[in-house]
Amino acid sequence: MQEQLAEIAKNARSEINAAQTEEDLKKAQVRYLGKKGEITTVLRGMGKLSPEERPVIGSLANQIRDEITTLLKEREENLRQEARKRQMEADRVDVTLPGRPVAQGFLHPLTQVIEEICDIFLGMGFSIAEGPEVETDYYNFEALNLPKDHPARDMQDSFYFQPEMLLRTHTSPMQVRTMEKVAPQVPVRIIAPGKVYRRDDDATHSPMFHQIEGLAIDYDISLADLKGTLLSFARQMFGPKQQVRLRPSFFPFTEPSAEVDIACVICEGSGCNVCKHTGWIEILGSGMVHPKVLAMSGYDPEEHTGYAFGMGIERIAMLKYGVNDLRLFFQNDLRMLRQFR
Ligand code: DAH
Repeated sequence: MQEQLAEIAKNARSEINAAQTEEDLKKAQVRYLGKKGEITTVLRGMGKLSPEERPVIGSLANQIRDEITTLLKEREENLRQEARKRQMEADRVDVTLPGRPVAQGFLHPLTQVIEEICDIFLGMGFSIAEGPEVETDYYNFEALNLPKDHPARDMQDSFYFQPEMLLRTHTSPMQVRTMEKVAPQVPVRIIAPGKVYRRDDDATHSPMFHQIEGLAIDYDISLADLKGTLLSFARQMFGPKQQVRLRPSFFPFTEPSAEVDIACVICEGSGCNVCKHTGWIEILGSGMVHPKVLAMSGYDPEEHTGYAFGMGIERIAMLKYGVNDLRLFFQNDLRMLRQFR
């Protein structure tokens, strides 16, 4: 009996030692200490032993059971530690590796150009006015001397929500909104950047595009003030030698009206494809605010005069950065946009 117990102990020790998983340990535990385990069986058979043998075998069996219990616990703890160590080896972080940069956004080229234009006019004493893109017929047309039956309305066909409500076709309604707010005070000097909409869509026209409106009202404002201001703008935007030219034109809300050209930024005036060999490129419409427009919005045209202009922002951006297709601004191709980072 003693030898049998010694044999069981020996087997248990080596089995537990060799265990590689918790499952191995579980098996060993069942085999030796389980209900039908080898030690348990010995303890159960004690009844058959003689009274002299009983205490000796009993205490030996208990001792071995305790030893096996302890060995199982220790081995379990070892296995756990080994596993943790392996895990940590595998998860090792190389802190000397370069970090992964977070992708950073940047302003759209048109936004950059808008900010640049605004900065230039802010520097000349203008302030910024902003207004709604969904506009009433009154502000978009009527108050700009474009009554319902006026043929010039056809040039700016738009998107209507209701007969009296449309997406603004230009930023000029901001002239009216500004005058209504501050009349009859002078001086007025505002610029109004923003989106405008027209029923147009080809290589040089987009149904949505951007304009900047300018308005100045005071005593004795003249066409010379308009030209000087725009020349200064053109030189700050395109370079100190830039030239501007005013060409007579027509807009219902200005009298006289002029279209303003800058010397072609590609060929510097000598003639090329971009300027269609004229040496000049149109960038905006302008003029002296029509007396009717002043009067409708609360200014006395006998006392005050003003000039106004409306500039196409995509146009300016295309010229400044040599972009040859308007649609490139709206396709969101990162290869194009990243050049403006
Ligand atoms: N609103 C005109 C357009 O979109 C541009 C324009 C012309 C604006 C003359 C003005 C102006 O302020 O005086 O075509």
